Amino acid sequence: METLAGRGAVCVGGGSGVGRGIARGLAAAGARVLVADIEEANAARVCDEIVAAGGAGAAAGVDATDPDALADLARTAAGTLGAVHVLVHTVGVIADTPLAAATEVEWGWFLELHLLSAVRTVNAFLPELRRHPGDAHVVVTASMAGLLALPPAYTGGVNTGLYSVAKHALVGYGEMLRGELADEGIGVSVLCPGRVSSNLAATSARNRPDRFGGAFAGPPDGSEPPGAMPNEAVGPIVVRGILGDRAFILTHPEARPMVERRQQALLADFAYFAEASGPSGPT
Ligand SMILES: NC(=O)c1ccc[n+]([C@@H]2O[C@H](COP(=O)([O-])OP(=O)(O)OC[C@H]3O[C@@H](n4cnc5c(N)ncnc54)[C@H](O)[C@@H]3O)[C@@H](O)[C@H]2O)c1
Repeated sequence: METLAGRGAVCVGGGSGVGRGIARGLAAAGARVLVADIEEANAARVCDEIVAAGGAGAAAGVDATDPDALADLARTAAGTLGAVHVLVHTVGVIADTPLAAATEVEWGWFLELHLLSAVRTVNAFLPELRRHPGDAHVVVTASMAGLLALPPAYTGGVNTGLYSVAKHALVGYGEMLRGELADEGIGVSVLCPGRVSSNLAATSARNRPDRFGGAFAGPPDGSEPPGAMPNEAVGPIVVRGILGDRAFILTHPEARPMVERRQQALLADFAYFAEASGPSGPT
């Protein structure tokens, strides 16, 4: 894709945090943006911000775990925007549960909200995106946690296992989808941010579906710890990633040494087994 000017873009999960920053960034680059979120009032607020900044926006409510609601959204988007060239998915949840203590229900919650909601969103929009070969792009939102495996000692004591496993799955989904859709002229990027200003703990708690235990008392909006990248800064980086058709969109260069250490550990295991090849004892 050579430009976002005049393109139609949909940001699912765009009512807050990373999605808000991306929706605003896409609009600033000239796209008409439909902001969709389970919290429709927040989607409308982000749309108002876009319009106030001189951009073109619309808002809609959607539950990104519901295929019927997503099919409706795809129809609405095609009507409202005229065409959908860019699809961004930024829905996710967070909780502090050790893997060994996680219940089947918690696993279901995480895999549904991270992986399956992305899969269902992409599936709902693929017919629209396929109308624009060479001019269509998908962004799914993983995390640095999808490229690393950090124990609680590295995360301020928080157990991010469920989150990290779900994000690794999204990295795999995005990379595989990129390979599958390349011949159709649809680009796919996996966004892997470090810490970004958002309300993830709060929105995770109040939007947990009934089938996974329902809403519970979480922290208020705006209570995420300080020191994060402002979500407005993510938008222009994502725009650059789409226009450059990058496999990964990386917002936090300071995370690179950790990724390098993980790759080096993998290579060290290759070296270990290469040295151990030859007679390997009784078979
Ligand atoms: N904030 C960070 O530091 C950070 C870092 C890396 C990756 N991420 C990822 O970015 C994505 C966005 O998270 P965020 O941190 O901006 O949090 P956020 O809570 O600010 O934004 C998530 C949005 O998703 C919406 N949402 C929740 N369930 C939904 C559903 N079923 N259907 C539609 N919308 C739904 C929420 O209402 C909210 O507006 C997540 O996938 C998260 O894992 C965040």
